[in-house]
Amino acid sequence: MAGNVWRSMLSQVVLGAVRRPALPSFARGMQTVTLIPGDGIGPEISTAVIKIFEAAKAPISWEERNVTAIKGPGGRWMIPPDAKESMDKSKIGLKGPLKTPIAAGHPSMNLLLRKTFDLYANVRPCVSIEGYKTPYADVDLVTIRENTEGEYSGIEHMIVDGVVQSIKLITENASRRIAEYAFEYARNNQRNSVTAVHKANIMRMSDGLFLRKCREVAENYKDIKFTEMYLDTVCLNMVQDPTQFDVLVMPNLYGDILSDLCAGLIGGLGVTPSGNIGTNGVAIFESVHGTAPDIAGMDLANPTALLLSAVMMLRHMGMHDYANKIQTACFDTIRDKKVLTKDLGGNSKCSEFTAEICRRIQDLD
Ligand code: IPM
Ligand code: MN
Repeated sequence: MAGNVWRSMLSQVVLGAVRRPALPSFARGMQTVTLIPGDGIGPEISTAVIKIFEAAKAPISWEERNVTAIKGPGGRWMIPPDAKESMDKSKIGLKGPLKTPIAAGHPSMNLLLRKTFDLYANVRPCVSIEGYKTPYADVDLVTIRENTEGEYSGIEHMIVDGVVQSIKLITENASRRIAEYAFEYARNNQRNSVTAVHKANIMRMSDGLFLRKCREVAENYKDIKFTEMYLDTVCLNMVQDPTQFDVLVMPNLYGDILSDLCAGLIGGLGVTPSGNIGTNGVAIFESVHGTAPDIAGMDLANPTALLLSAVMMLRHMGMHDYANKIQTACFDTIRDKKVLTKDLGGNSKCSEFTAEICRRIQDLD
C-alpha cells in the first residue's frame, strides 16, 4: 500500500503530473481526441493504446483520421481536410509514426502537422526507466525544442548550379515564446533550472537573438536557475553525466538532435514520449520513432513510446488519475521483466505486452 502511494508520487514527478491546474474545458466528461494511427507499426501500437485506455476506463473517445499528403489549391501541400477539421474541434491529437520521404516528394507530414496547428513547443521528458538498464542511471531531464522555425523553416533555394542556400530563420517572437514556455514548464513541474542551448559564438545574430530572449525571459523567473551552454559542450557533458541537466531549451534542429541523444540515454525512441504544444490548449502527442516497416503487421512492435505520449496527453488534459494508473501499469510491467517485447529484451508480442498492462490496470483498481 505505502509502496503504491510512493510509486504514484514518484510517477507524478516523472512525467510532469504536478503542473498548472487543468484547463476547464477538459475537466469533465468524455473528451474527443483525434487519433492519427500513422504508417508501418502505427496502427498496431495505436490499437494497443486504445485497449489500455479502455482497461483504464479513461473518458476518451477517439476520432480516427488518416494523414496522407495531399495537394491543395495552388499546389500547396496540406493535411487532409477531415483530419484538420477533427483537430480543429478536438484540439488534442495522438499520433503514431508517419513516414517521411528523403529529399524528394511531399514534405514531412509530421512537420506539416506542427506548422498547421502552430505547435511551437516540442517537449520530450527523458527519465530513466526502472528495470530497463542502460549505461546511465537517474536521468531526469526535459528537452524543450522550438518547433516552428530555425533550420526547419524549409526555405531553401539554389543560388547557382552547385550552390544551395538554406535559411535558418530565427525570430524574436518565436524565441521569446519558447523561452517563456520553458520557464513556465520548469515552474509548473517543480524543476529547478533551465539551460539555453546555443552556438551564439558562431551564429552570432540568429542564436544571439535566441539567447538574448532567453536571458530576458529568465529575468522574470528568478525562482528558476538559468544557465546557457554551447550545444557541443552540452553533448560532451550530457554523455559524461546527464544528471547535471534539468530543463533544456533550444532552437529547432539542435532540439531534434539533442532530444534523440537524450532518448538514447534512457533506452531509445521506443520508450521516449513527446508532445507538441500550441496555444489555447491545442496539442499533438506522438511517438517519435520510425514506422519500422520491417516488422509492421507482425505484432512485434513496442507501444511504450506512444503509450507514454498518451499519458502526457492525459496530464495535459488534466486527467492525472488516469495518467498515473496507466503509467504505473506500464512501468511495473517493464520493471518485472516477465512480459516484454523483443526490443525491450523479451519474447512477447505487442498484444501480450498490451494485455499485461491492461491486467495490471485492473489490479490497481
Ligand atoms: C522528430 C522527427 C521529425 C523531425 C521527422 C520525422 C520529420 O525526427 O520529431 O524528432 O525531424 O522533427
Ligand atoms: Mn528527431
